[in-house]
Amino acid sequence: MSALSDTEITAQSVVFIFAGYEATSTSISFVMYQLATHPGVQKKLQDEIDRALPNKAPVTYDALMDMVVNETLRLYPAANRLERISKKDVEINGVFIPKGTIVIVPTYPLHQDPEYWPEPEEFCPERFSKENKGSINPYVYLPFGNGPRNCLGLRFALINMKLAVIRVLQNFTLQPCEETQIPLKLSKRTIFQPEKPIILKVVSR
Ligand code: HEM
Repeated sequence: MSALSDTEITAQSVVFIFAGYEATSTSISFVMYQLATHPGVQKKLQDEIDRALPNKAPVTYDALMDMVVNETLRLYPAANRLERISKKDVEINGVFIPKGTIVIVPTYPLHQDPEYWPEPEEFCPERFSKENKGSINPYVYLPFGNGPRNCLGLRFALINMKLAVIRVLQNFTLQPCEETQIPLKLSKRTIFQPEKPIILKVVSR
């Protein structure tokens, strides 16, 4: 295997910063917004965190909360579409795709399709409970893409997000305030961003 050139190392570092930092911090903001506007879910989560980690103990890997993060990434997939270029002429379900065609996979519309997600606009972490998550089609839930070119930082990003949210919830309760935009509007850029900054009230526990 040949070593990476300086240009390749620089290019990889830039992707890590933009793909990694921006997507993770934006997704954390969306989680915080959902918790502030769903106090019942927030309370349940805080109780669960307190039970698993009494006295604000440091976080351990297996005590982390998946459902809230997964459901937020369904509603707000940082990359709202995926792209691939066809390497050869191919026919799929009667549709001919010539070599070199850019194919877009519409993550956001798939995440909102009522055929797969009843009441798709609702924030419902239960969709990802132990009982339900087995029935989720991996090709209609794509916050980190899929296949050989899916997100390189997937596991790191999930751990990072959960650690950050748990640490905040151990010490604070999030609440909406006058400046909170409800419902949240999204900007129309490729990377999902709230139209306005998410402003929340933070109350010490
Ligand atoms: C919540 C945070 C993140 C989200 C939602 C996210 C989402 C994605 C998505 C949707 C893709 C495209 C996958 C595909 O086309 O199938 C991608 C690619 C990528 N992500 Fe992430 N990402 C996140 C965090 C990170 C982090 C923390 C890193 C690095 C430390 C990272 C590095 C990359 C790289 C290098 C690629 C390109 C992979 C390739 O082309 O082979 N991402 N990410």
